Amino acid sequence: MTPRHDLFDLIAQSGANPCEKLPTLVRPTAAEAALAVAHEIARLVAAQAAAGRRCVLGLATGSTPIAVYRELVRLHREEGLSFKHVTTFNLDEYYPCAPTEAHSYRRFMQENLFDHIDIDPAQTHVLDGSLPRASVPAHCADFEARIRAAGGIDIQLVGIGRTGHIAFNEPGASGASRTRLVTLHATTIADNRPLVPGGNIPAQSLTMGVGTILEARRVVMLALGQHKRAIVRAAIEGPVTNEVTASFLQNHPAAIAVLDEAAAGDLTRVHAPWLLGPLSLQGGQWNDALVRQAVIWLALESGKPILKLEDGDYARHGLEELLAYGGSSYELNLRVFRALQATVSGWPAGRPSEGQAKPAPRRVLVFSPHPDDDVISMGGTLARLCAQGHEVHVAYQVSGANAVSRDFMARQLDFVRESAGVLGVARVPADIDQVSAEHRRELAAAVRRSEVRSAAAVAGVPAARCHFLNLPFYERLDRRTDEADVAAIRTLLTSLKPEQIYAAGDLADPHGTHRICLELLEAAIRAEQAAGAVWVKNCEGWLYRGAWDDWRAHEIDRAIPLSPAEVLLKRRAILRHQSQKDETPFLGGDAREFWQRAEARTQAAAELYRKLGWAEYAALETLARWPVL
Ligand code: F6R
Repeated sequence: MTPRHDLFDLIAQSGANPCEKLPTLVRPTAAEAALAVAHEIARLVAAQAAAGRRCVLGLATGSTPIAVYRELVRLHREEGLSFKHVTTFNLDEYYPCAPTEAHSYRRFMQENLFDHIDIDPAQTHVLDGSLPRASVPAHCADFEARIRAAGGIDIQLVGIGRTGHIAFNEPGASGASRTRLVTLHATTIADNRPLVPGGNIPAQSLTMGVGTILEARRVVMLALGQHKRAIVRAAIEGPVTNEVTASFLQNHPAAIAVLDEAAAGDLTRVHAPWLLGPLSLQGGQWNDALVRQAVIWLALESGKPILKLEDGDYARHGLEELLAYGGSSYELNLRVFRALQATVSGWPAGRPSEGQAKPAPRRVLVFSPHPDDDVISMGGTLARLCAQGHEVHVAYQVSGANAVSRDFMARQLDFVRESAGVLGVARVPADIDQVSAEHRRELAAAVRRSEVRSAAAVAGVPAARCHFLNLPFYERLDRRTDEADVAAIRTLLTSLKPEQIYAAGDLADPHGTHRICLELLEAAIRAEQAAGAVWVKNCEGWLYRGAWDDWRAHEIDRAIPLSPAEVLLKRRAILRHQSQKDETPFLGGDAREFWQRAEARTQAAAELYRKLGWAEYAALETLARWPVL
């Protein structure tokens, strides 16, 4: 195997960042971040083997390390990296949980790593979730003793949960905690349910303690994705506190964070780099996008609308350099305010020409990853597009069958049984449990399709323009995508030849479905571009957000105002997705329903524009330009 750089040295050489109390490496993409970590582990495994020593790895599970393990397997197969001298200890295991169960972390490790490398099975240690409760304390103590007997952990890989946990040390866990049984936070359960078929995971887990983790000689925290950015900032830049147990890593002499750009989005180096000193000294320079970001940041930070910002406000908030670059606060204010003004439009697909009531009709295609993202995230815009006479189609990318509860299905079946009696239809199963898993899944997808037709009708989209793509990746446990996913999207694109496309750019979706759906759509569009399709040249693209997160003020390229009546119409459309109300208790510790979250977000966007000094609206839906088109 080719020797690679020591990641820890690399980070040390890049110089200290005064805001980041945990040394951090940011890589452009999730794949590159995962590769950096995999190569660090591989480097250590090879170095220890060369020195004739065993290498002790601390391993994590969850969605984050999957690409790390994939690369380790590749290195083993293609570059001869051997794990014969490796011992492993995993962070945690659900409790109660047999190693064969779908959600078992032992099973996860076998399937993602151990079964594909030459490691001695006896040297892999995963806590045993199948023991009786009375045996748990002794088992946990024995696990710690085995770590000590192995000489301690050389390098520990950890992820971070949205509660700030490392391993399953939830808020409140002590920095001195050891391996033990714990109760999971509601947010953790909500985040981890979708990773498991059937969505059933126990409420408890066995986990290494913070103290156990801090004893590892090196620790790498890997965090990927926009949904982690707020908690990543708290862990790296915030105080050391047991409210965010990952922050304890700041006390470790050799702990680092490796992030992709999305997870790094809230770090000061990204959201307000001028606070780290003049950009010119950081090797950067001011451009239109940064000026906009800085002026909007300054207005919100100083509590003044843009047009009231004075030279002194710039100087006092670390923006002296910008003031010099921009000439005066007057010029900077005006420049950014005009750009903000230009984002507001009630005509999402173009204004009517002189003397016309409606604009020229355009063919619009909205891509909705799940069956309800269209109305949740851009229900008002959708209704406007229909009302303004455009030909609006919606493509629902995945079936959404994972998110229909057993309870909801039982209720539907109850109704079907009654109606079968009325309509004289023979044989309907007496109980939902008598329906095969495969049929249940099909029925769940049917439930969602009928909800779509009802919700889309509220917005004004006819059933014939609702397209169900049922992308195959969603039906697979490992979410593997292939050509069939891209082909399904391309077929629709070429048959419709849209002039405007709206896609979900809400990458904070904790389940990852939105990210996959966007990547597939990009692949389909790129393929069309490569094939020289004419329609792509005449098509414009917009990204919406909304179910989980919103655009930052400076990222907004278009803001569509909603009247109070449109807010209510949008609410009515979202409520047609009745099966999703069953999901409320699992929305990640936030008990609000989707319509409430959607309204809170659009109101917050309106409030943002008001604070910046623009008009006061009931709500605003926001979009960003999609550079792919
Ligand atoms: C898993 C573990 C957890 C995860 C964390 C992030 O062994 O200990 O702390 O690392 O919940 O999970 P993902 O990677 O699924 O976002």
